[in-house]
Amino acid sequence: MSGNITFTMIKPDAVRNNFIGPILKMINENGFRIKALKMTHFTKERAEAFYGVHAGKFFFDGLVEFMSSGPIVAAILEKENAIEDYRILIGNTNPEKADEGTIRKLYAESFTANAVHGADSDENAIREGSFFFAEMEQF
Ligand code: CDP
Ligand code: MG
Repeated sequence: MSGNITFTMIKPDAVRNNFIGPILKMINENGFRIKALKMTHFTKERAEAFYGVHAGKFFFDGLVEFMSSGPIVAAILEKENAIEDYRILIGNTNPEKADEGTIRKLYAESFTANAVHGADSDENAIREGSFFFAEMEQF
């Protein structure tokens, strides 16, 4: 069981495709409360730092290029067991493998342009949320 807070981003593909509204609606309808919300834009340097754990992997340069290619929406979400439940709601990293009804199945374009990010641990939710929200410790 994870804690009550997770961190998400609506990625540049989903913003470009006008899916901010539908994705936030799904988030609310699945029991998550939006605690903080910000539309912003990664520089390449900030995207490299955010995804630093993946530095050196074959997809890293493409991921950084993509994540800094347009606006994103960052959010802090609250729900019991938030990390695990949100990973279920977004679906597999590869949208072709994502279950029916998941956010990535419905809205992703490709493996890299896969509509949303979801934190994978309590610790990473805090680390990632702190990139965008100074008040992260309060949540
Ligand atoms: O986002 P998630 O935690 O599901 O996957 P990850 O393994 O932490 O990878 C981070 C992001 O890198 C993914 O969401 C994809 O956008 C991208 N990625 C990719 O483009 N190609 C891969 N083979 C793996 C990940
Ligand atoms: Mg991940």
